[in-house]
Amino acid sequence: MQQFDYHNPTRIVFGQDRLAELDQLIPADARVMVLYGGGSVKRNGTLDKVLNGLGQRQVIEFAGIEPNPRYETLMQAVEIVRDEGINFLLAVGGGSVMDGTKFVAAAAPYSGDTTDLLKCGFEPIPVSTALPLATVATLPATGSEMNMGAVISYEGGKYPVMSPLLFPRFSFLDPTLTFSLPPKQVANGVVDAFVHVLEQYVTTPAGARIQDRTAEGILRTLIEVGPQTLAQPEDYDARANLMWSATCALNGFIGVGVPHDWSTHMIGHELTALFGIDHAQTLAIVLPSLWQVRKEQKRAKLLQYAEQVWGIQSGDEEQRIDQAIAQTRAFFESLGVKTRLSDYGVEAEQIETVIDALKAHGMVALSESGDLTPDISREILRGAL
Ligand code: NZQ
Ligand code: ZN
Repeated sequence: MQQFDYHNPTRIVFGQDRLAELDQLIPADARVMVLYGGGSVKRNGTLDKVLNGLGQRQVIEFAGIEPNPRYETLMQAVEIVRDEGINFLLAVGGGSVMDGTKFVAAAAPYSGDTTDLLKCGFEPIPVSTALPLATVATLPATGSEMNMGAVISYEGGKYPVMSPLLFPRFSFLDPTLTFSLPPKQVANGVVDAFVHVLEQYVTTPAGARIQDRTAEGILRTLIEVGPQTLAQPEDYDARANLMWSATCALNGFIGVGVPHDWSTHMIGHELTALFGIDHAQTLAIVLPSLWQVRKEQKRAKLLQYAEQVWGIQSGDEEQRIDQAIAQTRAFFESLGVKTRLSDYGVEAEQIETVIDALKAHGMVALSESGDLTPDISREILRGAL
């Protein structure tokens, strides 16, 4: 196991009907901005519950944060925060709203050019302060409710924004707030969380048994509760387990002391930016093909995954790995998430645009060992047609 520090300061407030407790968690004299997306939280009543929980506090609403939140939209919120002296941000929504809120928290007090904050990759952004933020999560998928990252869209690219100052102070996880999700978003959430685990687990062996057993537990839980949630949208227990799985998949715990390989995400981000394919759909396209191409590098962990997650024990190594890849693809498809570029209308001639974008964004040395070049990305995308 590699050396690590682990510190996650986000308080989780888990369970049904607890939004009245917002009153105890936000300073009474706070000037609060409530940020949300395209209106789902208005239609399903979540926003009203949040506003009730905030009581007499001064509140300004900021609506319209779109999926794959755009820098320009978020800068409108930054202007209002600065003009109105807002000192607490509350995100009510999915990953896009939570990520957008994190960006506003960092950008509002920043005196330099705010596009600087998009240029740091996975390194911490150069800020010494950020506004306090919290979340009411409505979509289990990204883990943004308990991590320090955001992904912001700007000029045809998707940029990570990371800082320990961006951990939410607290996050409400109320499974009943997810009952209104369309099946497509439920399926996307299962795939996103599943791939978050895989990119921290199917790498190279690090002798990290707690991380491995936990990763396997989350994957097995998702395999159980994903289909259950789609079949029974108001099954509280399934929703609760899905929600906590997605949070645990990317709150840092399974990622300490082990190698990471975020190649699927990085290639996937270009597919979203270029073709508008949903984040999770891009992962379902890239991951099975990436594994085919990278079998040798990932052999030991693929075999472990095959046995521990899917119970595959028969056949030679090659057969067990192929079966694990096939079952992963079949799992995504069974949820209704298509796994081929052609399913989304992307053709062979368009692959070169993706490669150009990867190069333009410096994504030329991906994977756990930094040896995944644009030529290998091309091979992966061809395999995904
Ligand atoms: O905008 P509204 O009207 O709220 O509708 C949203 C949106 O259309 C809807 N929705 C959310 N909760 C709902 C609901 N509809 C009905 N009932 C509810 N309870 O769902 C749609 C998608 O929302 P979005 O927030 O975009 O989805 P998701 O949570 O999958 O977030 C995706 C974004 O997160 C980033 C992605 O790149 C993408 O931009 N990621 C963030 C990460 C992080 N911060 O750690 C890691 C991830 O890998 C990912 O990259
Ligand atoms: Zn993701």
